[in-house]
Amino acid sequence: MPKIILTGDRPTGKLHVGHYVGSLRRRVELQNSGEYDKIYIMIADAQALTDNAENPEKVRQNIVEVALDYLSVGLDPAKSTILIQSMIPELTELTFYYMNLVTVSRVQRNPTIKSELQMRGFGDSIPVGFLTYPISQAADITAFKATTVPTGEDQMPMLEQCQEIVHKFNSVYGETLIEPKILLPTNQACMRLPGTDGKAKMSKSLGNCIYLSDSADEVKTKVMSMYTDPGHINVSDPGQVEGNTVFTYLDAFSKPEHYKEFNSGYECLDEMKEHYSRGGLGDVKCKKFLINVLESELAPIRERRKEWEKDIPAVYEILKKGSEEAEKVAAETLGDVRRAMKINYFEDQALITEQSKKYNQK
Ligand code: TRP
Repeated sequence: MPKIILTGDRPTGKLHVGHYVGSLRRRVELQNSGEYDKIYIMIADAQALTDNAENPEKVRQNIVEVALDYLSVGLDPAKSTILIQSMIPELTELTFYYMNLVTVSRVQRNPTIKSELQMRGFGDSIPVGFLTYPISQAADITAFKATTVPTGEDQMPMLEQCQEIVHKFNSVYGETLIEPKILLPTNQACMRLPGTDGKAKMSKSLGNCIYLSDSADEVKTKVMSMYTDPGHINVSDPGQVEGNTVFTYLDAFSKPEHYKEFNSGYECLDEMKEHYSRGGLGDVKCKKFLINVLESELAPIRERRKEWEKDIPAVYEILKKGSEEAEKVAAETLGDVRRAMKINYFEDQALITEQSKKYNQK
């Protein structure tokens, strides 16, 4: 069985370092590993519209932002197919058939949906499309026969729901769809990178994000104002490493070679943490080190972005080509689905023969 990756993002804003350590960095590694037969990266605009119906302009503007972020982190259109969800109408049709295999109470129980509903304060006015987006996401995944979905922990309930749909479809209509597996970040800090204010979620509205497209100065300012241990007042005081955003970011970003390269004075992160806990290591020193670590990763991303920004028509061309290629694959799967459901009437000679016999016996 071919190894196929599908994953994606909603184009509701620029991508930030949480997206990077949670998923983007891994995608590039997987892309360059050569272990996968196909890689599809989806800009999920239709999904973004499920809670932005009144603001399609926001989605429209952010498609190119996300595409630029993809290209600048090193996703390579020669190796990965980048596509726009709404350009593949087959996904909508698959969603429509899958909807009949899922109950309303099941989508209401989806933990991601539950928390998102609460966050958005929909109250009694939940858009039907929003409630059913896990089903549309199952269509995204199965349309490309994806075996592997590298994504963040928050997407786990989406994957479980997709697996249920696959089982249900296959048991009702016969083996047709491929069951995908989620591929989570291996590092706990990457699983859920906090905002710069130490809050659990990085979000544009909280103003606590470091964006991949931030300038070096912006990154510096954001790190210098990062939440640390509020009890760590004097350098000599013992400090807390757990829940200290600077250390969480170091957990997510620092590599063994950085400690020597930036003259940290430590061999490794554990040694630095140990000194901080004991007392005698100041926040400013830790932050300066973190700035160097972040810059070593972000500077090349920023440079590549600058290059792509000079040729926006080429970026749209990549999306167009990717979407066209992706549509062919989705159309094949839709064909399989229609055949399995036996709603492929005009190519079903046996059906026509059977019906005509029924009416013309003797
Ligand atoms: N729901 C994902 C998010 O909010 C985006 C997404 C859409 C996705 N379709 C997908 C992720 C398919 C993985 C697979 O980030």
